[in-house]
Amino acid sequence: MSQRPAEVDLRVSIGTLHLKNPIIAASGTFGYGVEFSPLVNLSRLGAIVTKGLSIQPMNGAPGPRISESASGLVNAIGLQNIGVKAFVSDKLPELRRQGAMVVANVFGQTIDDYVEVIRVLEDAEGLAAYELNISCPNVERGGVEYSTDPLLTAAVVDAARKAAQRPLWVKLSPNVNAIGLIAKAAESEGADALVIANTYPALCIDAHNRRSRLGSTTGGLSGPAIKPITMRLVYEAAKVIHIPIIGLGGIESPADVAEYILAGASAVQVGTAHFVDPRASEKLIDGLEIWCRDTNTIEISGLRGALNVAQATSE
Ligand SMILES: Cc1cc2nc3c(=O)[nH]c(=O)nc-3n(C[C@H](O)[C@H](O)[C@H](O)COP(=O)(O)O)c2cc1C
Repeated sequence: MSQRPAEVDLRVSIGTLHLKNPIIAASGTFGYGVEFSPLVNLSRLGAIVTKGLSIQPMNGAPGPRISESASGLVNAIGLQNIGVKAFVSDKLPELRRQGAMVVANVFGQTIDDYVEVIRVLEDAEGLAAYELNISCPNVERGGVEYSTDPLLTAAVVDAARKAAQRPLWVKLSPNVNAIGLIAKAAESEGADALVIANTYPALCIDAHNRRSRLGSTTGGLSGPAIKPITMRLVYEAAKVIHIPIIGLGGIESPADVAEYILAGASAVQVGTAHFVDPRASEKLIDGLEIWCRDTNTIEISGLRGALNVAQATSE
């Protein structure tokens, strides 16, 4: 008699938020979500994170803005966006209609900017949480200062916490010496979850013309090339904080998702993979279900932090 395949439970919780599955579309790689709705069933995704939103619209950086590298992508978009007010009036109603779980990615040049963006969003319906980008390495006077100093991290998280009724996720930079110190600073000021991590500062040169391949000269590296480096950051942060971690960096396959969860993440985000296949995150939900069946994993949340350190080797 053939056995019925076991039911798989992909649900995860990020604090008070309950997601259908751990697959979240990452900021800046999924537009405002609505552009993907002809291709992707937005309501199937664990959540989607919007392109970074600022108080005023921004034109972004001069082109070229992206350059492919070995197993990765270097981008310098310059945080181009339509501004928070246009997002609320022009994009959010459609996202609500589509039944998406929407997380608004927020950034600013000053702490007051962050607070102002959150105040506009507080008046809007249909958002699940905020993701504070304190880690973007692309804009000279952007959030980079906050994410590299525990005191500045604490200051911006504290101000955002006071302004926000909704859950607050804080997205960290990977470009730090001691991720634990920054993670603890964000946790102690009231972050509900940490998102680890953003891109790595990078430079791509075209030797024929001796120029950078990007209009802004430097950019941020993402994609499979960064996966093992960021996964260690997730592992290190998970050792010292108690709030959930959302891991991202180079995720393409169901096994990649499982690896991040084993390292200590509660959920993951998918970024650069959308440039290869716009349906990458939705396909990962199906793939993860199959992966769980094949590995007799009944609950995906049961894998969290279950890395067997005794068997790990440094080869
Ligand atoms: C083209 C592009 C634009 C991005 N824009 C943003 C952004 O506006 N805000 C932000 O917090 N992260 C942004 N990111 C970073 C991603 O959300 C993610 O942290 C990073 O790419 C690592 O994940 P991945 O390797 O799966 O792409 C952007 C990444 C790319 C490739």
